[in-house]
Amino acid sequence: MKNVLLLNTGVVGRLLAPQLARAGHRVRVLTRTATPHPEWDALGIEQAEADMTTSELPRAVFQGVSRFFWVMPVVEQFAEVAEAVLRQARAAGVPYIVRHSEGGADQPRIRLSRWHAEADRQLAESGLAYTILRPTSFMQNLFRDHQQSICHDQLLRAATGNGRQAFVDAADVADAAATVLTTEGHAGKTYALTGNRAYSWFEVANLLTLLLGCRVAFQPLSDEQVAAQLQEAGVPRWLQEAIQGFNQEIRTGGVVDRVRPDLGRLLGRPPKELGAFLLEHAEAFQPVNPFATTPLLTRS
Ligand SMILES: NC(=O)c1ccc[n+]([C@@H]2O[C@H](COP(=O)([O-])OP(=O)(O)OC[C@H]3O[C@@H](n4cnc5c(N)ncnc54)[C@H](OP(=O)(O)O)[C@@H]3O)[C@@H](O)[C@H]2O)c1
Repeated sequence: MKNVLLLNTGVVGRLLAPQLARAGHRVRVLTRTATPHPEWDALGIEQAEADMTTSELPRAVFQGVSRFFWVMPVVEQFAEVAEAVLRQARAAGVPYIVRHSEGGADQPRIRLSRWHAEADRQLAESGLAYTILRPTSFMQNLFRDHQQSICHDQLLRAATGNGRQAFVDAADVADAAATVLTTEGHAGKTYALTGNRAYSWFEVANLLTLLLGCRVAFQPLSDEQVAAQLQEAGVPRWLQEAIQGFNQEIRTGGVVDRVRPDLGRLLGRPPKELGAFLLEHAEAFQPVNPFATTPLLTRS
């Protein structure tokens, strides 16, 4: 058995846990609700149940941990929770933290990036060994936020204007995190994890059109339209502001559209292209009613 690794869940943590366990590490996953997970059980992955946002973490969570892969949920009390988790990890004697931060944190202009930047700063000044990973938006967000409107209406709707994003595959982020967690030479470093090209949302829609064989259009939304949607969905005010701030960040450019070399260097290969990612997952974006869509080619 090699390291004892404590991981938060989230998109990356869930990809990372089996990968590390298969490589022979002892893996403990920190989650609010432990759920039956035969694959994890077979790999010997432990689930430690605790909610870092509402209570002190039980000491047993940190027992024997050599490296902690720390993912913060986006919660209103982010700053207080981040401070408390760092304090507890330090008090419990965790020697090394790999923090999953966020792409905008090296030039924070919006609240979420400022939260991340502050947590990164506190970690860097904590005296613990650390590495900071700053991924841009995951390609997987296209499932979370847009699958429904792509499948039902062949529309990609967002208030991102002509802005571009260097989307990254969360699986590449997990691979990079695995490298950082299990090899030496990364202490004190901060890595900006981006895809190798920044795409506008018009281009994302064009890629989907090519892959699906029916027209998918980008429909730019205004901030007011997004506000109305969020309000109707009952999204709390602070989260509405965070989402609107992020959309503005994309439209303004200069942060989330930057392409950095760090990810390719950590992986030893180029990061996944968005087109390749969409091709792999094309099944998930198929039209629900193909007869209602506009085919690209019509037979005469
Ligand atoms: N999504 C992206 O594109 C992206 C890109 C770069 C950076 N980030 C950063 O990555 C972090 C996580 O984002 P994510 O989208 O991967 O994960 P997420 O699913 O939103 O949150 C990560 C984990 O935190 C726990 N969690 C979620 N909501 C919570 C709540 N209200 N209270 C307590 N715990 C909660 C959940 O774990 P359990 O259910 O297992 O307890 C969840 O799996 C954020 O800090 C975000 O800023 C995200």
